[in-house]
Amino acid sequence: MAEAEIFVLSDTEIEVSALDLWYDDGAVHALRDITLDLHPGEVLAFIGPSGCGKSTMLKVFNRMHDANRGVRLTGKVTFQGIDIHDPSIDPPLLRRRFGWVAQKPNPFPSSIWQNVSYGPRIHGLMRDEAEMAAHVEASLRRAHLWDEVKDRLHTLAGTELSGGQQQRLCIARALSTMPDVLLMDEPTGSIDPVATAKVEELVLELKHDKAIVLVTHSMMQARRVADRVAVFHLGRLVEIGPTEDVFERPRSAEAQAFLGGLVG
Ligand SMILES: Nc1ncnc2c1ncn2[C@@H]1O[C@H](COP(=O)(O)OP(=O)(O)OP(=O)(O)O)[C@@H](O)[C@H]1O
Ligand SMILES: [Mg+2]
Repeated sequence: MAEAEIFVLSDTEIEVSALDLWYDDGAVHALRDITLDLHPGEVLAFIGPSGCGKSTMLKVFNRMHDANRGVRLTGKVTFQGIDIHDPSIDPPLLRRRFGWVAQKPNPFPSSIWQNVSYGPRIHGLMRDEAEMAAHVEASLRRAHLWDEVKDRLHTLAGTELSGGQQQRLCIARALSTMPDVLLMDEPTGSIDPVATAKVEELVLELKHDKAIVLVTHSMMQARRVADRVAVFHLGRLVEIGPTEDVFERPRSAEAQAFLGGLVG
C-alpha cells in the first residue's frame, strides 16, 4: 500500500473488535473478546493486575507480535479506518505511525543525534541535513530535552544520560517518525518521581496532536493524565470509560475489586 493511503480522515485512530490472542500456538489465551476504540487527542490508560494482557494489547496495535511465530489472533483491528492485518498493509509503514516508549529507557548506545535521526533517515522523511537538524531539534524540544543536550548532540551517547533524561530521549526518538499514536508501556516504571512528573507533563502536552495509550501500575498517574481508563482482568477488558467514572463508580465486580484493593 502506498503510504499516502494510510492517511484516511477518521475520528477514530484505532478500533478493536472481538479480538482474541493466543501465545505459544494456542496454549496461552492472553486476550479474550476485546472491543475498544482510541480517539485522536485522548490519553487512554490501561490498568489491571500483572499478567492481565496490557502489554499484549499494546503490541497488537503496531503489529509487534508479527515477530512471534507462536501468536494466533482473531477479530479485527483498524487504524484510521483500515484493517491493520490486510495483506496490502506494509508493517514498517504502519509502525511508523506509532511511537513506542518502553518501561526501561532503551536508547541506542550511539550519539543523541543518531538516536533521534535514525527513524526519519530509514523512512526517508527528511529532504536534506538542514531539515534533519531542524527536525532533531524539534523532536528534542518537544521531549523537553533540548536545553540539556544541545551542545553534546554528537559527543554524548544516549546511554550516558541520566535515567529520566534517557526516557525523554526515548520519547524524542518515538516522536521523530511523526507518529499519530504513542504507545507507552509503563513509561515511568523505572524513573524517579521528579522525572515521572516531567514525563506526565509531556504526555498532557503531546496528546493535543496524538492519541496516547499509557499502561500504568500507578492509579494516581492514571487519574492525573488519562481521559479514559480501560481495566483488564485475566485477558478480558472488564471496564472502559471516563477516568472519573471508572475510579468513582466502577461497574464491574472485577474493576471494583481491583480498584478497591488498590485505592480504597
Ligand atoms: N511472548 C510470550 N509468550 C507466551 N506468553 C506470553 C508472552 N508474553 C506474555 N505472555 C503471557 O500473556 C499474559 C499477558 O501478559 P502481558 O505481558 O500482556 O501482561 P501485562 O498486563 O502487561 O502484565 P505486567 O503488568 O506484569 O506487565 C500472561 O499470562 C503472560 O505470561
Ligand atoms: Mg506489561
